[in-house]
Amino acid sequence: MRAAITSVAGYLPDDVLSNADLEKMVDTNDEWIRSRTGIEERRILKDPTKATSDMGAEAVKTLLEKRGIDATEIDLVIVATVTADMHFPSTANLIAHKVGAVNSWGFDLSAACSGFIFALTTGAKFIESGQYKKVVIVGADKMSSIIDYTDRTTCILFGDGAAAVLLEPTESHGIIDHKLHVDGNGANFLRQKAGGSLFPPTHETVENKDHVIWQDGQPVFKAAVKGMADVSYDIMQRNNLAPDDVAWLVPHQANLRIIDATQRRMGLPKEKVMINIQKYGNTTAATIPLCLRDWESQLKAGDNIILAAFGGGFTWGAVYLQWAYDTH
Ligand code: COA
Repeated sequence: MRAAITSVAGYLPDDVLSNADLEKMVDTNDEWIRSRTGIEERRILKDPTKATSDMGAEAVKTLLEKRGIDATEIDLVIVATVTADMHFPSTANLIAHKVGAVNSWGFDLSAACSGFIFALTTGAKFIESGQYKKVVIVGADKMSSIIDYTDRTTCILFGDGAAAVLLEPTESHGIIDHKLHVDGNGANFLRQKAGGSLFPPTHETVENKDHVIWQDGQPVFKAAVKGMADVSYDIMQRNNLAPDDVAWLVPHQANLRIIDATQRRMGLPKEKVMINIQKYGNTTAATIPLCLRDWESQLKAGDNIILAAFGGGFTWGAVYLQWAYDTH
């Protein structure tokens, strides 16, 4: 038995933060941002009373509506995020509560930009075991809550958003293979310094702006190009997939140049790559399911799809799946 994605939905906040807006906030310009990253605008959740779980809950509500099932049927909710509403309870708890998934349990999974593929792989195991029939995987991040909007090297990159998929058992198609990696040495190049048990919040950590994303961009870029391209190529090789066999690459949307390098290594034409980074920027755990949502109407049952990601940690990997349904 395999696990298949049987529905996909997303939620993006209405407020747009364009490159022109950022030009007024930091010393940057539209041309630099477009040419170095591919990003034109991103969405920001401005309502201070709303958090990651609110975006995730909206995505899950739409997901269930589309599939025509009730929240009480959900067995498990896994939420990939690095911007949990609180350290505890988990964002999965809060989302399950908000959508009325009263028969479900759940947990958060922390793998930064690879969070969605790590969570998808984990959720698939509960379906493959035969134990569960309906598992919801959410990728959601309110990145604006951990960005320093005076730091031009990071504030241009990220946006807010959420998306979710439903996993159900299937005899054919579905998730076939995964190859996932972690390397804790990556903490030296990309991290949120304070707020955890190592450096709990103090006046000093707040004054030093240690609660926001800190990144040494170039080493992260180099590791991302190599990691995402290699793992995507490897998963094609070990599943005997030639470029012609692959219908779509669904890459994490961190930087257009990282996506281009992965596409070239896989030998795919540009038309087979889902790219929406120009509209949403890097929404961390939400990028891959947001692509699936945006391209859903073009996907056909049996399409060979490679999901690929690289993120903080470092974390990286690829998932090979066959799409399970035609959109009506
Ligand atoms: N606007 C204008 N100039 C900027 C800028 C901005 N927003 N940000 C940085 N610069 C400047 C730098 O200060 C530097 O100036 P200098 O040469 O005078 O020192 C110059 O642009 C080049 O900076 P550099 O860091 O070498 O640029 P880059 O080509 O590596 O691009 C990133 C920077 C962040 C876009 C790139 O490193 C990247 O995408 N890294 C990976 C990010 C990522 O994916 N993170 C999430 C995990 S998946």
